[in-house]
Amino acid sequence: MNEKPMRSPNIQIAADIIKAGGVVAMPTETVYGLGANALNPIAVARIFELKQRPSFDPLIVHIADMDNLNSLMVNLDERVYMLAERFWPGPLTMVLPKSDIIPDIVTSGLSTVGIRMPANDIALDLILSSGCPIAAPSANRFGHISPTTAEHVRKQLPDVDFILDGGSTNIGIESTIIRLTDIGFQILRKGIITKEDIESLMPYDLQTRIDKLSSPGQLKSHYSPRKPFLIADTATLPSKSKSNAGLISFSGALEEGFGKVIRLSQTSDLKEYAAGLFGAMHSFEDDPDISIIFAEPVLETGIGLAIMDRLRKAEFYWKYEHSI
Ligand code: TXA
Ligand code: MG
Repeated sequence: MNEKPMRSPNIQIAADIIKAGGVVAMPTETVYGLGANALNPIAVARIFELKQRPSFDPLIVHIADMDNLNSLMVNLDERVYMLAERFWPGPLTMVLPKSDIIPDIVTSGLSTVGIRMPANDIALDLILSSGCPIAAPSANRFGHISPTTAEHVRKQLPDVDFILDGGSTNIGIESTIIRLTDIGFQILRKGIITKEDIESLMPYDLQTRIDKLSSPGQLKSHYSPRKPFLIADTATLPSKSKSNAGLISFSGALEEGFGKVIRLSQTSDLKEYAAGLFGAMHSFEDDPDISIIFAEPVLETGIGLAIMDRLRKAEFYWKYEHSI
């Protein structure tokens, strides 16, 4: 029996909203996205409005099959198909020269577009049922914690037309974003797919400069909880009472004395850290007993690089722009 299961009625409702120019929150394997028809500039404008996102920060376009890809990009490059073959569906976004059918609002006026095929059946089904590629940033208010459950979306974006609930996302941090250069690839945002994973296919380009224009939206401050958040180290850890402090813990080494602890892995698995990080941040943000949040740092290799990138951006506002 190879028959496809019946499409969930909620996917049909969501697809009808997308077709009519509305905005729908959808699960992906990384984080929830706030989606609209990528080819409809008015629908895409509502994403920016709902998220309160500045117009200079371009969106990722989500596709469900390779035919979609061919209509969205120009300057066919064999390496794109190699990467797609290896990593799609999955958490890899490729920044590619865009075709004219993509409205400027999606790409903030850039001549390139970020494209990925998510590894989530609900998202893929939604894209196919909508009959269009779906532009979707993470479904959080600009600058705040990314959502890994439907509840996180509801909390931050109560005005979204519809939330398609697909449970908790399993990867938990956003896709790796890369671009291709003449001599190889470069990473514009770190994620679960690491530099080493991609190096098995092509060289990492250390030479070509990445200017601000080719990588917009990479701000120093991002993912910030609404209460103080710091990476736990000897300089930041309070020496006495920690009863009002929450710790996002990984190794177990720092847990003593904290009011509350969320241990993200019992087996020191960095994938579990990534999967649980935003959920733990949301949970402490919502917890009235907690007034300051700490997160345990990890070694900066492999997935640890993507985790530390999120922690540094989340603490930036609280560490440098606000006195705790
Ligand atoms: O996992 C993900 O990528 C999630 C899910 C929903 O797919 N989406 C996501 O989107 O993280 P967002 O909007 O939060 O981050 C998109 C980032 C932008 O901030 C920008 O840095 C980069 O993607 N980006 C998009 N288009 C680009 C382009 N043409 N050139 C360079 N960077 C681009
Ligand atoms: Mg985001």
